[in-house]
Amino acid sequence: MQTFLHGRDLIGDLDFSKEEVETVLEVAFDLKRKRALNELTPYLRDKVLAMLFFFSSTRTRGSFEAGMAHLGGHAAFIESRTTQIAHGDTPKEIGEIFGRYFDGIAIRHCDWGIGNQYLNEVAKASRTPILNMQCDIYHPFQCLADLMTIIEKKGRDLRRKKMVVSWAYAASYQKPMSVPQSLVLQMPRFGLDVTLCRPPEFKLMPEIMKMAEEQARKFGTKFEVVEDMDEGFKDADIVYAKSWGAMVHTPDAEEGAKIIKKYESWITDERRIGLAKSDAIYMHPLPADRNIEVTDAVIDGPHSVVYDEAENRMHVQEAVMALTMS
Ligand code: CP
Repeated sequence: MQTFLHGRDLIGDLDFSKEEVETVLEVAFDLKRKRALNELTPYLRDKVLAMLFFFSSTRTRGSFEAGMAHLGGHAAFIESRTTQIAHGDTPKEIGEIFGRYFDGIAIRHCDWGIGNQYLNEVAKASRTPILNMQCDIYHPFQCLADLMTIIEKKGRDLRRKKMVVSWAYAASYQKPMSVPQSLVLQMPRFGLDVTLCRPPEFKLMPEIMKMAEEQARKFGTKFEVVEDMDEGFKDADIVYAKSWGAMVHTPDAEEGAKIIKKYESWITDERRIGLAKSDAIYMHPLPADRNIEVTDAVIDGPHSVVYDEAENRMHVQEAVMALTMS
């Protein structure tokens, strides 16, 4: 068990070793149990987290804010548009100054080609940990919550279990590709055979694919790519189907929307979930485009674990904050 995580950043999924992720999960399960028993967990008394948002959020904001309160500290909600960032505060200045005010700085910045770089620039200047609340490349806390949920539903021995990470059609907006990228990087380390399923235009970043292949090789798991949603779902133990934008192909939102429209049939419905194993779980980080990305019957049905998944955001985040900010 690797417990010395004090002062560490969590920006990319592989920033923590497998053993360190196992530590996070053990602490998260303990915090979840303690919360169920109404036991106090004041590991971060009088500590303050800055939550800097460049993009909207329901779960991330709520779970980080509640999590800091459960740990005996406080979370300051800061929207970039209400700061002086647009008037010239640089990432270095944010890191230097917030690093002196706060005990940790959590940032959500999903702008394509900008977000991850911004987090890394703040991290270089900050004396306190930087926590990635989602960028254009990674969504590590979502992925940790997903892993915790999979272990709860499928047990700790995940070898030879098939997880399909599938693209799905959505009309609301072009969602970042950070969730599937985090999943293909982290899940092979825990024994899952990952099938990435997506139309040809919705490839993940080549460097992420290379890293995911390396992880699968290192941990002796299968990693394959298919371009047919039915094929991807076949015999899956875990179905994780969500939309992401075609940003690698085109930064043009209109052009991206035209490409997406071609794949309206990529929905998770009862027929399709029926192709997976009978005890398969359906996962989605939310928000979902209901009856476009996934039918009500599936997301509200017996396979769905989306609310446990959302709850676990809070427990894994509390674990990482307690380990890095104490
Ligand atoms: N899953 C997730 O990150 O949700 P929010 O965008 O609401 O924070």
